[in-house]
Amino acid sequence: MKVAVVGAGLVGATAAYALTLRGSCSDLVLVDRDEARAQAEAQDIAHAAPVSHGTRVSSGGYAALADARVVVVAAGANQQPGESRLDLLDKNAAIFRAVIPQIAHHAPQAVLLIATNPVDLLTDLAGRLAPGQSVLGSGTVLDSARFRHMIAQRANVDPRHVHGYVLGEHGDSEVLAWSTAAVAGLPVADFMAARGLEWTPELRGEIDTGTRDAAATIIQGKRATYYGIGAALARIAEAVLGDRRSVLTVSAPTPEYGVSLSLPRIVGAGGVEGTLLPTLTPQEAAALQESADVLQKRGERLKA
Ligand code: 2OP
Repeated sequence: MKVAVVGAGLVGATAAYALTLRGSCSDLVLVDRDEARAQAEAQDIAHAAPVSHGTRVSSGGYAALADARVVVVAAGANQQPGESRLDLLDKNAAIFRAVIPQIAHHAPQAVLLIATNPVDLLTDLAGRLAPGQSVLGSGTVLDSARFRHMIAQRANVDPRHVHGYVLGEHGDSEVLAWSTAAVAGLPVADFMAARGLEWTPELRGEIDTGTRDAAATIIQGKRATYYGIGAALARIAEAVLGDRRSVLTVSAPTPEYGVSLSLPRIVGAGGVEGTLLPTLTPQEAAALQESADVLQKRGERLKA
């Protein structure tokens, strides 16, 4: 069970660390155009293996991707304070045009798990650069986790018993689908009422803004986000490696919307095994269409 991570920056290295600590795979290889960086990160992470799950961690060139079941693609620039994810498109698309064909050549059977932003448009691009290969993006798996975390804080329960999906773009136009949110099987408002907890439109608005702006807030404070996304990438990789059929809001081409975006999808050995179209309120459905329109408009320049 081999996983490769291409791009050994903060996100790639943290994903590798999460994969190691969770024991997600038996072999892990880091690849970066800065070979010394990949080697140093691999060494550092390898030192966690004897005290976790014994993962074999190494670094190498593209040839080291052979036999990988999953290739996490985290190569590219990240946002600076004040920049949006979409602002990274031209820079990171150029990197993808160089990197994805190499990955496709050396690991044609692997599922490609795209993490680089803007993740939806780069998932689309990777799919075109690696035709026939299974490609999915981390999408809003992280945003759904942020949504769940914030509801759980208010509800004062374990976040694993909170469900709810963030749909559409992994970015400013994303849609918090409140109609999918539940705490221990109850609609959020019902749970709060049952527990005697305050629940108002203002509190709901705080969660909406807090989820949508989480990355910008963290970037303002420490210039990058990587722990949350690192864990999310490990979780998605595990769904593929273990053929878990996990329901995760990963990004993938969506014919209904003409672009890659996030919906709840069944993730297993083949990557995306199915897509669920949740029942949404008219407002949520309109917001999702708007999010798709934002992506489509911005993605036009990639097709030229
Ligand atoms: C995040 O949401 C920046 O996309 C990255 O943390």
